[in-house]
Amino acid sequence: MAYLKNGTTPRHAEDDRGERRVFKDLVKKSRSFRGYDSTYQISRQELEDLVDTARYAPSSVNRQPFQYYIACEKEDVDRIQPLTGWARALPEAKLPHPGKEPSAFILICQNLDWDPDETRYVRDVGIVAQTMLLAAAEKGLGGIMIGNYSPARVSEALNLPENLSVMLIVAVGKPDETVVLTEVSPGESLKYYRDEEDVHYVPKRRLEDILL
Ligand SMILES: Cc1cc2nc3c(=O)[nH]c(=O)nc-3n(C[C@H](O)[C@H](O)[C@H](O)COP(=O)(O)O)c2cc1C
Repeated sequence: MAYLKNGTTPRHAEDDRGERRVFKDLVKKSRSFRGYDSTYQISRQELEDLVDTARYAPSSVNRQPFQYYIACEKEDVDRIQPLTGWARALPEAKLPHPGKEPSAFILICQNLDWDPDETRYVRDVGIVAQTMLLAAAEKGLGGIMIGNYSPARVSEALNLPENLSVMLIVAVGKPDETVVLTEVSPGESLKYYRDEEDVHYVPKRRLEDILL
């Protein structure tokens, strides 16, 4: 399926049984974007609303051990961007391209005073991150999860207190690139790639190959 430059798909596409698939479309539209309109301003309030949505996500033993650092001021965003690693599978692409950086970051931090076990909530991290990204997609925004960073360097750069451990970084912005999903058979490469027009292709396994 092809995505328009701003990351949108036709609303309410129907599946092969003629049913409207609003949520499935949102999930398909919510890709990992590595190119944004960097002039687009996202308000702190909009980003807080993403966190507010994630606040309702399930949490192991309902411990809800996370707090969120929102970076939307340019100075703050510029401080975080160089500490993040993008598209490890395409080092030659040097993403995001200069001028295509995201407008904001949300750092998911575990408050170690609330729970010091840093391995126990790795599933919770993924759930809140994807919830925020789906909420962003609903607003016509997009983002990407960034796990490639040094927690120590990020904490130092932002002067975070010692009881906060940065578990995952979520970039948010107005997508300005085309991402295309493809389907692959078992044994075919799952590596994402770009063509000469910088269109990003993401191979996904087919349903029949993942059902046991
Ligand atoms: C936990 C997690 C961490 C990720 N970390 C990075 C990262 O550090 N840098 C990056 O460019 N992409 C990162 N990604 C994005 C993946 O590369 C992306 O999900 C994958 O290529 C599939 O593309 P899609 O999200 O559009 O389906 C991460 C994804 C997940 C789930």
